[in-house]
Amino acid sequence: MAAAPGALRRALPSIRSAIVQVHPQNKSQLTRLFSTSLPSQRLDSSSSSSSSSTPEYAIPDPSRPTHFGFETVTEGEKRERVAGVFTSVAESYDRMNDLMSFGWHRVWKDHFVASLNPGFSPLTAGPDPRGSQHILDIAGGTGDIAFRMLHTAHVLNNNPSVRVTMSDINRAMLTVGKQRASALPASQQAALSFVEANAEDLTRTRPLQPLSDAEKATTKHAFFDPATATSSIPSNSVDLYTVAFGIRNFSNIPAALREARRVLKPGGVFACLEFSKADKHPLFNALYKEWSFRAIPLIGQLVAADRDSYQYLVESIERFPSQEEFRDMIVDAGFVVAGDGYEDLTGGVAAIHKGMKPRA
Ligand SMILES: C[S@@+](CC[C@H](N)C(=O)[O-])C[C@H]1O[C@@H](n2cnc3c(N)ncnc32)[C@H](O)[C@@H]1O
Repeated sequence: MAAAPGALRRALPSIRSAIVQVHPQNKSQLTRLFSTSLPSQRLDSSSSSSSSSTPEYAIPDPSRPTHFGFETVTEGEKRERVAGVFTSVAESYDRMNDLMSFGWHRVWKDHFVASLNPGFSPLTAGPDPRGSQHILDIAGGTGDIAFRMLHTAHVLNNNPSVRVTMSDINRAMLTVGKQRASALPASQQAALSFVEANAEDLTRTRPLQPLSDAEKATTKHAFFDPATATSSIPSNSVDLYTVAFGIRNFSNIPAALREARRVLKPGGVFACLEFSKADKHPLFNALYKEWSFRAIPLIGQLVAADRDSYQYLVESIERFPSQEEFRDMIVDAGFVVAGDGYEDLTGGVAAIHKGMKPRA
């Protein structure tokens, strides 16, 4: 503990410069530029339940400015660069998650899934709520959420009629997920499907295609090209939509929220686990930022030989909206939220947001 003030003093310049870049006052002028920013007008409750008009900011535009970590890039460029990051980290992703979070990501994911209690669907008619349930895990990566969903539903809640679609824009990540899924019980494997899709447009998807030898050899082009789509996720077809540690990487978050609302059944739930702001606890927050900005890129360099990808990951966390801003984006997309609309985990290092698609 005695070392903490010294470490804190040394950390202050870098922490301050990181904060200055995203301080709300500085951000106010930038937010209008960025597609992940809050829309300037909130929808009123009557218009929020109508999907007839899509605001311009929720329509993906490859040439619109957004951010990639602390850099300003176009939405199209961000998509490619994020694809490069996750293709590059796919093989080391699970190991790095444990190292970077001291294993806390497992606790957060366990809690996230337990809080959703898959297998018991509020949408099931009749006296037994354990009816069939379709869960869509977006940005599913290597499968941590999808596998927990299946285990909780099939084993703990004794409901084998739950199926999970695990979707990601990145075929390298999904391919690692598919390899890991081969260790699941056969019944769970049968209830799991893998779909390539960009969360911002779920009308164009396709089942996971194997990586070619050329794709295995490069960090480029392992992401889904919508021109190759053969399927789509229908409107009103999903009971529960989950996204864990994915949404901050999207080029256009309002577009993804709009798509989440489209694919969910009325009464269906949007649930997001994401890094968030721990600034309600200043000392803890300063130490956490010191760890993030100094240690994580270094660990990335030493363990995965990839400093840049992990530098992006910590910058993207810093750049993500606060709990309240993100809750407002969810409301603006037409979801209803209960209470504050979010739950802080570990002092706000991560947070769970939930919203329900109105029933009528
Ligand atoms: C940090 S990983 C999270 C993986 C997993 N959900 C977990 O919690 O371990 C983020 C994932 O988001 C995916 N992703 C990024 N942009 C996406 C997009 N526009 N649509 C779908 N997935 C996307 C990446 O490919 C990556 O697999």
